[in-house]
This record gives sequence, structure tokens and C-alpha cells, in this order.
Amino acid sequence: MTTLITNGTVVSATGSVRADVLVDGETIAAVLAPGTSALGPITADTVIDAAGKYVIPGGIDAHTHMQMPFGGTEASDTFETGTRAAAWGGTTTIVDFVVQAHGQRVQDQVQLWHDKAAGNCAVDYAFHQIIGEVNDASLAAMDELIDEGITSFKLFMAYPGVFLSSDGQILQAMQKAAGNGSLIMMHAENGSAIDVLVQQALARGETSPYYHGVTRPWQTEQEATHRAVMLADITGAPLYVVHVSAKQALARIAEARNAGQNVFGETCPQYLYLSLEDNLGAPGFEGAKWVCSTPLRSRAEGHQDDLWRYIRTGDVTTVSTDHCPFCMKDQKELGIGNFAKIPNGIGSVEHRMDLLYQGVKDGRISLEKWVDVCCTTPARMFGLYGRKGVIAPGADADIVVYDPNGHTSIGLGKTHHMNMDYSAWEGYEIDGHVDVVLSRGTVVKDETGYVGHKGHGRFVKRSLSQNLV
Ligand code: URP
Ligand code: ZN
Ligand code: ZN
Repeated sequence: MTTLITNGTVVSATGSVRADVLVDGETIAAVLAPGTSALGPITADTVIDAAGKYVIPGGIDAHTHMQMPFGGTEASDTFETGTRAAAWGGTTTIVDFVVQAHGQRVQDQVQLWHDKAAGNCAVDYAFHQIIGEVNDASLAAMDELIDEGITSFKLFMAYPGVFLSSDGQILQAMQKAAGNGSLIMMHAENGSAIDVLVQQALARGETSPYYHGVTRPWQTEQEATHRAVMLADITGAPLYVVHVSAKQALARIAEARNAGQNVFGETCPQYLYLSLEDNLGAPGFEGAKWVCSTPLRSRAEGHQDDLWRYIRTGDVTTVSTDHCPFCMKDQKELGIGNFAKIPNGIGSVEHRMDLLYQGVKDGRISLEKWVDVCCTTPARMFGLYGRKGVIAPGADADIVVYDPNGHTSIGLGKTHHMNMDYSAWEGYEIDGHVDVVLSRGTVVKDETGYVGHKGHGRFVKRSLSQNLV
């Protein structure tokens, strides 16, 4: 089965060219000058006309939580519904987090995640490992998992009693990563300080979702980021700080990078567009829709312009979603009268490519930067590059035909395809549209909608990170 995507502009992280893309089976066979071939006219079983459209590598969302147990409930997207929504939005690979909590064996949890995902996914998937309890067994598992294609490990400086690791435990895990070449991912918030601020706020009767943001001030993020950077420096481990929302934390990451340290920043669409005042501060309990950690920051403090700037400078290396959806009914509602009981998370896996493309339209980032942070650098960062994140012969044919003159309304009500009873993005209008999505050569989304099937998506073993300072 061959497919020719013709007349389009192929956009990579480094430039844009008019070219045709020939797909043979699951992989890209050739990238050709438009309409030409030394061997004569190109024929294919299927031709996709991409005139006036961009042809880009499929998106890689390097931070998702499908069916994740959290706060007494479970993230509402299954691997089936979440990867289907990803396909709708031009994301053809997700990297989801296996969770090891206290008392659990890492290997058992990996098996559990394989059981949840296998046979259910619309697009390809890979795993990171959360180490919720650093001990001899989990440190040993960090070596074993590399052979199983899980090459990055998330630690928490937040959530005392649940996931939080002490500085000593973090140091040990970083020593392990420095030795075996894996990547440490860090949730950088000072959880102990936050817990005190939360208890004090609740005692004052400050119980609404707005106080979730107020009790996690930027200083708690900057302080933890600084500590993580220093611990990484002691050990020589590369460090990837996840879901950064405070400009001060990013300044610390940029400083470390300028000093030559292997430190990387990830941000998410919610931190680029949404805010403490406009969203967490919505009337009544409405703000619960946007409770996530790190929290949405104050618009008045001016974080968003800096976040976009750090994308341009390369200090934010990737934009992922931290997709961790919960419905309002029965899930977010657990925190009525106590914001600390609202399950943390926002769902965006369907909208990341569009929301970042809007940044191109708004003059915030270049077309190439869009592809870089959404597709190519996530592949390099997480050991997928070559197969994923690039349109080149031999790569998996994960391809998106994107219409820069199209339009996407994230309308009021359920116009999205995530398993949520609301959208954090209701009312957003995007000046672009995902037209066609191929996952390993198979069209999974076209102008008629989703045309893929569950079980098409396969587990992808990752190599060690191709680190980039
Ligand atoms: O609010 C968030 N971020 N929920 C998901 C868990 C995490 O810390 O990434
Ligand atoms: Zn986190
Ligand atoms: Zn997360």
C-alpha cells in the first residue's frame, strides 16, 4: 500500500520546502521534489492533495496520564479514548507515565500499564516511569527498564506522603541516571511549604479553587527548580523539569543551561494561555476545571510572555499537555468546599497542535519552532528520533496535513473527543485545522473525522535520550 502526499509544504524543525512525500506501508519511502522523479511519474495507491497545506511530522505529546489513579479517583480518559482524541488533534505518539506509588513494585506497575494500553490505542504510545518510592528495588529497576524501552524517570518534590521524594532520595536516583544514561524528569514544587500554606488557607475559610493557585506561589516552584538543578549538578545527571509555569523557574533553567548544564524545560498550553485570575478565579466552583499542578499563574505577574520567549530561545525544549483529565461530575466535585481535594489535572491532548499553531499565527513563534517543540525535540529528548519526529526516508509515516487557512472552534459544550464533560478550552478559536493524520502509514483522521481503530497503536520502545544542551 503506497500513499503520495503531494503539492504540500513540508515543514521541519529547521525549514520548510515544497515537496511530495511517498509512503510505502508503514514508513516514509521518499521525500521528492514536487511532481518529479528521476524514474518518471510517481504513482501510488492513494494520493492526498496537500495544496496550500503544511505537511508536518505527527505530534509527540511527551506527557500524558491516561487512566491515572489520583486523588481518590482516576483520570477519565482511557488509553482508547485518549489516544483517539490525540489522533483527532494531530498527535500520533503519546508518552504516558507508569505510576509506582509507595509499596508497589515498579515492574508490576509497568505490566499493569501495558495491560491497560495494549490493544486499545489509536496511535503509538511509549512510557516514562514515575518513581514514587526511591529504594534499593526501584533504583535497581531503573537499570532494568532501559532494556524495556523506558528510559526516563519522574520524581516529585511535591505531594508529601504520596509521591514526594526527599532530597537524599532524589540525589540517589540522579546518581543512578548519571550512571545509566537515563533522564530524570522533575515535578518541581516545594510540597512541604505548599502543604502548610494549604492548611492555613483552609483554616481561614479560603476553600474555593482560586486558592489552589494562591497556595502554590511561584516561589515554591522556583525554589524547587533551583534545588533540582543543584542536585543534578552534583551528580552530573541530565534534568528535564516538567510542566514549568513560573517565569522565575524558567529563568533558573536558562541560567543552568547557559552555564552548560544538561537541563531542559517543558511547558504546557495551559500556562501559555490560561491564568489564575481568568480561570481558577471563575465564579463559584467553576475554577475547579483548571486545577492542575504546577498551577495556572497570575496574568498580572506576566509569566506568559516570558514562557513564549523561552520557547523561542530554546530553554523550553518541548511543549507537552500534561493531559490528566477529570470530569466535573463526581471527580472535580470531590473538592467542593475544599480545593485541596480537587483532583489535579487538565485535558488538552486533542488541542496541543492547534493551540501552539495559534502561537505561530499570533507571531509568538515560527512555523519551524512549532514543529520543533511539538514533534521533533520531544522525539530527540525521549529516544524516539529517526522513527518519530521527522519526515525523512525510513521514518515511521506519522504525518499530519495541516491547513493554515482552516479554522478550529473548540466550541461550547462537547465538541471535543476527550472523555470529559467539559473542556478547559471552551470558546477558543484556532486559525488552523488538522486535516489528515497518518499513523504509521494508515489514515486515522481525515476530513470526515476519525477513521482509525483501537489496537492500531503500538508500544514503542525508546532509546536513551539524545540529549541536547
Ligand atoms: O495537575 C497535574 N499536573 N496532574 C497530573 C500529575 C502531575 O503532577 O503531572
Ligand atoms: Zn507533575
Ligand atoms: Zn503530569
